[in-house]
Amino acid sequence: MGTARVVFDRWEGRYAARLGSVRSSAVRDLFAAASRSDMISFAGGMPAVDEVPAKEVAQAAYDAVMHEGAAALQYGSSEGRPELRAVITELMAESGVRLSADDLVVTAGAQQALDLLAKAFIDPGDVIIAEGPTYVGALQAFSAYEPDIRCIPMDEDGMRMDLLEETLKELGPAGAKFIYTIPNFQNPGGVTLTAERRRRLLELSREYDVPVVEDDPYGRLRFEGGHLKPLKALDDDVIYLGTFSKIFAPGLRLGWMAAPAPIRAKVLLVKQGADLCGSAFAQVTAERYFLGTRWRRVLQGLTRTYAERRAAMLDALDEFFPEEAHWTRPEGGFFVWVELPPFLDTKAMLADAVERGVTYVPGDGFFPDGRGRNCMRLAFCYAEPDAIRVGIERLAEALEDRLELYRAFIAAGAISAEEGAA
Ligand SMILES: Cc1ncc(COP(=O)(O)O)c(C=O)c1O
Repeated sequence: MGTARVVFDRWEGRYAARLGSVRSSAVRDLFAAASRSDMISFAGGMPAVDEVPAKEVAQAAYDAVMHEGAAALQYGSSEGRPELRAVITELMAESGVRLSADDLVVTAGAQQALDLLAKAFIDPGDVIIAEGPTYVGALQAFSAYEPDIRCIPMDEDGMRMDLLEETLKELGPAGAKFIYTIPNFQNPGGVTLTAERRRRLLELSREYDVPVVEDDPYGRLRFEGGHLKPLKALDDDVIYLGTFSKIFAPGLRLGWMAAPAPIRAKVLLVKQGADLCGSAFAQVTAERYFLGTRWRRVLQGLTRTYAERRAAMLDALDEFFPEEAHWTRPEGGFFVWVELPPFLDTKAMLADAVERGVTYVPGDGFFPDGRGRNCMRLAFCYAEPDAIRVGIERLAEALEDRLELYRAFIAAGAISAEEGAA
C-alpha cells in the first residue's frame, strides 16, 4: 500500500487547530495501491476518460488559444465566462431546471463549490445534516470549518425522511446550517431519493427553515428507470452543484453552483479569496467541446460502458459474495455499497484484499463518527467487466476467510446469529 514514510514535522504546533478534524481521503490514499499492474481497483470513482475523444478535446483546446487567445489566457470574471454559463443553462434545462446564466457561478469542480459553501456558511459547532454514509470529499471540505455533522441513515429510497424530521425537530427552526444531499445514485450508497421523498425533503426544508444543498454529479448517468426532477427544479431556493467531471472530464476541473442571489454574492466573495477566478482556458475549451462536438454521443457511450460494468459487478456479487453480505443495486452512477456482518472490519481486511490484487474503500471514511466499519464502497466505473468479475471473486475469497471464523463463533454460541447478520 505505497511506501508511507514518517516525516518529522518541525512545524507541528503551528497549524490551525481546525486541521485536526480533517482526515485524509481514504480514496486518495488508495491511489498508490491501485498503481500495481495486476491490481483491480474498485476504489476511486474515476471516470472512463479513455472514451472522451482526445482529438476533439485537443482541437477545442487549440481553438481556445488560437481563436480566443487573450480571453483564454487572461484572468476572467469570478462568476465564470457568460458563454460557459449559457452552455450550463442548456444542460440544466434538459434536466428540468430553468434558470439564467446570471444564477450560476462556475467553480473548479463541484469540490470547490463544497469548500466555498463551507467557508461561507459554517462556524465551529454549526450543525450540518448529510446522508450517512456520505461523500468523503464533502466531509473533508466541511470538517475544515469544524461543524457538527449529523448523518441521516438511508434505505433503498434514499435519505429516511422520518429520521430527518426527527433530527430537525430536535434542533428546532433554523437549527442546522444546511442539509447536504446527493439525490441521484448517491456516493457512496448507490441509492436514489424517490420523487415522493424529494417533495417531502423540500417541505421539511421550508418548515424548519434549513436550506438544501443538492450535489448532483451523476444525474445524467442513468442506466434504468425514469429521470427524476432535481430538487432545484421543484424549489428555487435549493443550492445546486453540478460538474463537468462525469459528463466530460475531471481534468478540466470545471463545475458550477446555481444558488439564490444573496448566497451567490457570499460565495463569490470567498471564491475571490480562493482563486480570484477559475481557469479561463479550461472554460473556453469546455465551451468549444460542448458547442462543437458530438458530446451527447460520447456521453451515451460512457453511460453504456458504466451500465455494462455495473451489470458485471452485480452479477459477480450475486455469484461470489457470501449470503451474509448485502448490497445496493444502483440505477446509475458509479457505486455499490456493501454491508457485512457488524463484527467484520473492512479496514482491517483491506491489506488482505490488496495482497490478493483488489482494492475498495472501507466504509468508515464515509461517516464523520467512525460508523461504517463493516461496510465498503465498490466503484464499478473504472475496471473492465472481465476484471470486475475477477476482482469480486478475489474479494469474496478474502471475505470468506474471515467469515469462516465468525460462522464458527456462531456455531459455538460465542456470538448470536443476529450479531452475525448484517
Ligand atoms: C458526490 C460528489 N460530489 C462532488 C464530487 C467532486 O466532483 P468534481 O470533480 O466536480 O470536483 C464528486 C466526485 O466524485 C462526488 O462524487
